[in-house]
Amino acid sequence: MEGEPVNVNEFQELARQALPKMYYDFFSGGAEDQHTLKENVEAFRRITFRPRILVDVSRINLSTTVLGYKISAPIMVAPSSMHKLAHPEGEIATARAAAASNTIMVLSSMSSCTIEEVASSCNAIRFFQLYVYKNRDVAAQLVQRAERNGYKAIVLTVDAPMLGRREADIKNKMIVPPLKNIEGLVSTEVDNDEGSILEGFAKGALDASLCWRDIGWLRSITNLPILIKGVLTREDAIKATEVGVAGIVVSNHGARQLDYTPATITVLEEVVHAVGGKVPVFLDGGVRRGTDVFKALALGAQAILIGRPVVYGLAAKGEYGVRKVIHMLKDELELTMALSGCPSVKDITRSHLRTEHEKIHSML
Ligand code: FNR
Repeated sequence: MEGEPVNVNEFQELARQALPKMYYDFFSGGAEDQHTLKENVEAFRRITFRPRILVDVSRINLSTTVLGYKISAPIMVAPSSMHKLAHPEGEIATARAAAASNTIMVLSSMSSCTIEEVASSCNAIRFFQLYVYKNRDVAAQLVQRAERNGYKAIVLTVDAPMLGRREADIKNKMIVPPLKNIEGLVSTEVDNDEGSILEGFAKGALDASLCWRDIGWLRSITNLPILIKGVLTREDAIKATEVGVAGIVVSNHGARQLDYTPATITVLEEVVHAVGGKVPVFLDGGVRRGTDVFKALALGAQAILIGRPVVYGLAAKGEYGVRKVIHMLKDELELTMALSGCPSVKDITRSHLRTEHEKIHSML
């Protein structure tokens, strides 16, 4: 590619050039046929705008609040594992970029820097993503460490009782790098050297028995608000509000778990309606443009999270790359709002969009 990247997608190619194949494949890949991986992006493209004209858009305000924290734009950093495979500074660079961008970073429990290292590196508002290990004491310890170190919420990932089948990782025999948060607590030794070693590790370590009643257990061990990440249906959205979560993340784990789950943007509205405003709804999966952020907001998300774009920015240009990625999305969102007649995020409504479904109906 010639010159500096001008959009988030161009960072992907830079990351591919910067990374060993095994790591690039790990970051970019999805499960099995990678149908959902493509759909997460494509489904945004099928939604078009109904822009409104002659609105004063000389000043655009992107800021919003998430669980009471003011952030500069409705764009947050999704939890993704092992940032040191992308860049030697790992999650510390990511957190500094989030702080500089005035937004929230969700730290993965499979991070390569510790909860404490990331906390002391900068003043980013941080949430902690939790995987529950078979040894529940480990989860409890992680939650307590997050709470002690000023993380503001627990994001419980519920779509990964086992790891999805990522075929590039199987071929590459994807390794388990040092996972600093669980060092000495969970063994990362896997004796089977066939296929993805990471998948083998997850199978041995993650608690596949986790279920709805365990949200009560989690609430009993922390005072932090709990968000639940991985909801795709109205049924589960209703259950989540019943068990007292503070927010819902509509996510299919970046298409890395169950292939042929729908693109997240296509189920957002179903979840938003089921929740009925009781708790905020967030979305991740396939967000690559400011127009995508706008579309998610118009369909009822309070904010979106980005996974791979952050990792690609980090791999290509470290902290600066992550800042740049967030900045590009913010600039694009600002322009989209101006051209749609929305001076602030609360002005973005359902009537600013037209979905594929509506196009068909209007033709009948
Ligand atoms: C993830 N994701 C993820 N989710 C989580 O809850 N805990 C984790 O440790 C990880 N790790 C992880 C690693 C990598 C390399 C990727 C790409 C993703 C999923 C992540 O939080 C988010 O749901 C998706 O990345 C969103 O999709 P996009 O933005 O990557 O399309």
